Amino acid sequence: MSKLTDIRDCIKVKLPKVENTMGNLSAITGEETIPFPIKRVYYLYDVPGGEERGGHAHRGLYQLIVAASGSFDVELFDGKEKKIVSLNRPYDALLMKPGIWRELKNFSSGSICLVLASAAYDELDYIRDLKEFIAYKDA
Ligand code: TYD
Repeated sequence: MSKLTDIRDCIKVKLPKVENTMGNLSAITGEETIPFPIKRVYYLYDVPGGEERGGHAHRGLYQLIVAASGSFDVELFDGKEKKIVSLNRPYDALLMKPGIWRELKNFSSGSICLVLASAAYDELDYIRDLKEFIAYKDA
């Protein structure tokens, strides 16, 4: 139940890393690596300095967020507590459960935020108003 999730449910996941002097590689092999089926992949790029993304929660969507390049911070809020997760390595990922408000901040220049998601884009899955989110979590 996404109403009941809290920030402790959103954990950092280490992705496998194949090291090579010619460059490293990380693979995400469906449910061997992450606990949901990947239905969509999208990525944020060309984020202007000082700009923030996110500012919403999802009712049912699971996501895995990776700084494929550069770095940024993900600020999580479960209606009661906040925590900030910094992503700055292409082999570190953040598992996002539904029912968590998130804000993405402090993007480094040229960074790429890669997101693997459990469902197709659906605006009805979003809660974009913070007060509405807090009421949803309290209900
Ligand atoms: P949004 O999820 O609000 O972006 P962010 O959380 O990164 O700030 O999406 C921004 C816009 O992009 C919104 O109008 C819908 C569109 N969009 C798609 O068309 N497909 C997608 O998979 C996503 C994530 C967004």
